[in-house]
Amino acid sequence: MKVDVLLGLQWGDEGKGKVVDVLTPKYDVVTRFQGGPNAGHTLEFAGQKYVLRSIPSGIFQGGKLNIIGNGVVLDPILFRQEAESLAASGHDLTQQLCISKKAHLIMPTHRVLDAAYEAAKGAAKVGTTGKGIGPTYTDKVSRNGLRVGDLLCNFNEKYAIAKAKHETILCGLDYPYDIVDLEKEWFEALEYLKRFRLIDSEHLLNYLLKEDKSILAEGAQGTMLDVDFGSYPFVTSSNTICAGACVGLGVAPQNIGEVFGIFKAYCTRVGAGPFPTELFDETGERLCTLGHEYGAVTGRKRRCGWIDLVALKYAIMVNGVTQLIMMKSDVLDGFDMVKACIAYRINGQETEEFPFDITEGIEPVYVELPGWKTDMTRMTSEEEFPEEFNAYVDFLEEELGIPVKIVSVGPDREQTIVRYEE
Ligand code: GDP
Ligand code: IMO
Ligand code: MG
Repeated sequence: MKVDVLLGLQWGDEGKGKVVDVLTPKYDVVTRFQGGPNAGHTLEFAGQKYVLRSIPSGIFQGGKLNIIGNGVVLDPILFRQEAESLAASGHDLTQQLCISKKAHLIMPTHRVLDAAYEAAKGAAKVGTTGKGIGPTYTDKVSRNGLRVGDLLCNFNEKYAIAKAKHETILCGLDYPYDIVDLEKEWFEALEYLKRFRLIDSEHLLNYLLKEDKSILAEGAQGTMLDVDFGSYPFVTSSNTICAGACVGLGVAPQNIGEVFGIFKAYCTRVGAGPFPTELFDETGERLCTLGHEYGAVTGRKRRCGWIDLVALKYAIMVNGVTQLIMMKSDVLDGFDMVKACIAYRINGQETEEFPFDITEGIEPVYVELPGWKTDMTRMTSEEEFPEEFNAYVDFLEEELGIPVKIVSVGPDREQTIVRYEE
C-alpha cells in the first residue's frame, strides 16, 4: 500500500493530532516525519485530553505501530516526560513505539543556542518555541549533529565535540547559561530512551509497504512555517510539506498516496511574522476566546484572523493535497457573517498568487458569506448541516478545487463528520 500524509496547511495548530487519532483505525502504522517538541498535538476522547509533542498521535488506538522517523529532532528529556506521563495513564509505549537511529538529538546546548539567537535578534526575533529546533537542524545540515544511533557507539566522545562547538558559539554571543542540572537530566533520559526499539526505520517502513501495510504520516507545524515555502524567516527549520515525508521517512515519492490537507475554518498563528488576514479587533478576540486559541504546550496566545484562500491555495499546490479536512467549524457557529480572503491587493493590484514577501503592503480582499447561527457541536452527520454552512463548504470547495472530506465540529474524537464515505 501507500503512505498517506496528513499535514497542516496554515501556520500550525490546525488540529492534526485529533484527526490522526480519528484516522488511525484505518492504518497499520502511524509515523512522524519532521519537527520535534515544538509541536503540540491535542487529542480528546472519553473525557480525557492528551497533548503529544514527539510521539505520533496513533498511540491511543491500540495495537498500532508508531514510528518516530529520521526527519524528527528528539529531545530525550521531553520525550521521557511525554512517555512517562502516558505510561502513568496506562499507555505503555515500549512495544508500540520505534525510533529511527537517524533522528537527530536535541542537546541541552541547542536549547541555550535557540534562546541566545533569539536574544541576539532583538525585535526581529522569530518567537520560536525555545526547544532548540533551529540549532539542532542547523547542526544536522552542517554535519555536526548527534543522532539517536550514536548512542550505541562512542557517544560521550561525540557529545563532548559537539558541545565544545556550541560553547565556542555561546562565548562569542556573550550569552550566560548554566546547564549542569539539565545535562544530568539529559544523560539520564538517554538511558531511558534505550528502552525503546531504536531502528533503521527506512528499512522497516519500506518492508511494511511491500507487505501491503498502510501507513499514515503525521505532519507537524504547517505549510506556512515550512523553511522553503513558509513566511521566511518567520518559519521553523524543517520542511513541513509533503515532500518532507519522503525525506523524513526514506520513502520514495511514488509511494505517497493520499495527501490530507488540514485547515481551520478561520486562521491562527503563534509567534512573530506576517499574517495578512490577522484581526486586531473584537472579532479577532472573539475567535481567540471561542476557539480557545492558546498554545497546547506553551500557553501562548494565538493570533487570529479570517481564512486566507490565497495562502491555502498555495499550500494545496506545494503539497499536492488530494483531500481537505476543515477543523473548528463550530467556532464560527455564532457569527452573523463570515469572511474569506480571496485575493491580496498589493500596490493597488489584485493577485491570487501567493507572493515572495508578505511582510508589508498586503491588503486582503474579502468576500462575506452568511453565518449559520446554529450549534453544530452535537451534529453527527452531514444531513444535519444548516444550509448556510453547506454554502460555506461549497464555496471553499469551488475556490480551492479539492473536496472537503472531513468536517470537525468540536475537539472530541466523536465530533468528526466524514462527508464522503468510500
Ligand atoms: P495540532 O498541533 O494541529 O494537533 O493542533 P493543536 O492541538 O495545537 O490545536 C488544536 C486545538 O483545537 C486543540 O485544543 C484541539 O483540542 C482543538 N480542536 C480540534 N478540533 C476542533 C474542533 O473541531 N473544534 C474545536 N472547538 N476545537 C477543536
Ligand atoms: P504544531 O505541530 C504552531 C512556530 C513557532 C515560531 C516558529 C519557529 O503543534 O502545529 P521553532 O521552535 O520551530 O523554531 O519556532 O514556528 N511553531 C509552531 N506554531 N504550531 C506548531 O506545531 C509550531 N511549531 C513551531 O511559534 O513562530
Ligand atoms: Mg499544535
